[in-house]
Amino acid sequence: MFKYTCLNPIADIGLKNLTDDYKVTENIAEAEAVLVRSASMHDMELSDNLCAVARAGAGVNNIPLDECAKKGIVVFNTPGANANGVKELFVSSMLLAARDIVGGINWVKENKENANISKDMEKAKKQFAGTELMGKKIGVIGLGAIGVLVANVANRMKMEVYGVDPFLSVHNALSLSRDVTIVKSYDEIYKECDYITIHVPLLEDTKGMLNKEAFAKMKDGVVIINMARDTLVNDDDMKEALESGKVAKYVTDFPNPAVVNMPNVIATPHLGASTEESEDNCAIMAVDEIRNFMENGNIVNSVNFPNCDAGTCDTKGRITIAHKNIPAMISSITHVFSDASVNIANIINKSRGDYAYCIVDIDSESTEDMVQKLVNIDGVLKVRIVK
Ligand code: MLT
Repeated sequence: MFKYTCLNPIADIGLKNLTDDYKVTENIAEAEAVLVRSASMHDMELSDNLCAVARAGAGVNNIPLDECAKKGIVVFNTPGANANGVKELFVSSMLLAARDIVGGINWVKENKENANISKDMEKAKKQFAGTELMGKKIGVIGLGAIGVLVANVANRMKMEVYGVDPFLSVHNALSLSRDVTIVKSYDEIYKECDYITIHVPLLEDTKGMLNKEAFAKMKDGVVIINMARDTLVNDDDMKEALESGKVAKYVTDFPNPAVVNMPNVIATPHLGASTEESEDNCAIMAVDEIRNFMENGNIVNSVNFPNCDAGTCDTKGRITIAHKNIPAMISSITHVFSDASVNIANIINKSRGDYAYCIVDIDSESTEDMVQKLVNIDGVLKVRIVK
C-alpha cells in the first residue's frame, strides 16, 4: 500500500488510474508520494517517508529541487502535457497585443445603453485599430515542448520565426518546422524581432534575463510575451521599457503587484494550462510517473535525478538506491550483495550532476538487512525495496 497526498486538485481522470494499492492521506508527513500543481513546497517539512513528488505541469519553481535531491526524493514534471494549452493562449496573446481587442470590448460594454451604438462604433473604432501578425518577425526563446509548438504555430500564421535554445534536444529540433530559423544567440533575437516570446524554466541562470541590457538590444516598440514565469523579467527594467515605449506591449500570464500597475500590460491570471485537456493530460502523466516509480522504481521525466528505467522486474528482488554521484558508490553497493552471496541479475546506474540512481535486480528476495547495509554507505540518500 502506497500513501499519497494531493497538494492541489488533480484531475480525476489521472487519479482514477491509482489502483487500490494507493491510499490518499491529508497528512503530508505520512505520504510517500505527492501530487502538486502550483502549491509552494518551499517551506514544507520533507519527511523521511517521502519518495516522490510529481508536478502536474512543466515549471518546478514551487518545489525545492535540491532539498528533495539531498533527501533522495525524486521530483517529476509533465513535459509537453500542457504544451498545447499554453500554445493556444500564446496565440491569443499575440492577437491581443497586435490589436486593441480588449479596448474594443470595453468600449462596447461601456456603450451597452447607447441606442446609436452601431453608428457610433464606426467612428470609435479607429482608436482600437492595430496591425497584422503576418510577415512580422517573432523570436522564440526556449525551444522545449511549448516553445516548439509556439514556433510552429507562429510559422503557420505566416510570421517570420526565429528560435534560440542552447539546450535544444534532437527530438525538439526535428519537431520544428523547417521554416523556423534557429539562431545561436539571444542577441540575434533581440536585434531582429518585433515579437519576443519566452519559454524557458525559471532557474538561477534565467532569472531576470529580460532586463535593461536585453531591452537595449531590442527594436523600439517590441512586444514581449511571457507565458513562463514572472521573474524571468526584471520588473523595474520592464517598467522603464514600457514607459519609454521601447517595449510597446507586455503580455504576461504571470501578473504580480508591480506588473499590473505598469502601462501597456495585458495580463491573464496564469491561465496557460487551465484547460480541461491540459489538466487531464498533466494528471494522467503525473500519476503514470508516480506509479512507475513506486511500483517499479523507474524514473521517467525527473527534474532532479537522472532518468533510469529498468522496465518491470522479472527477478526475485529489486532494490533502488538514490545516492550522491561520487567515486566508489557502485562498488560499495555491489559489495553489499556479494557479501550476502546474492547474485545481481541486472544493474543500472545513472547520474545527473551531483546525484545518481541505481536499480539493482537480484536473484534472491530483498531483505531489510540489505537495505540497512546500503543506507549505511556514505553518500547513499535513500534506499527502497521495490520487490
Ligand atoms: C506549467 O508550469 O506547466 C504551468 O504553470 C502549469 C499550471 O498552470 O499549473
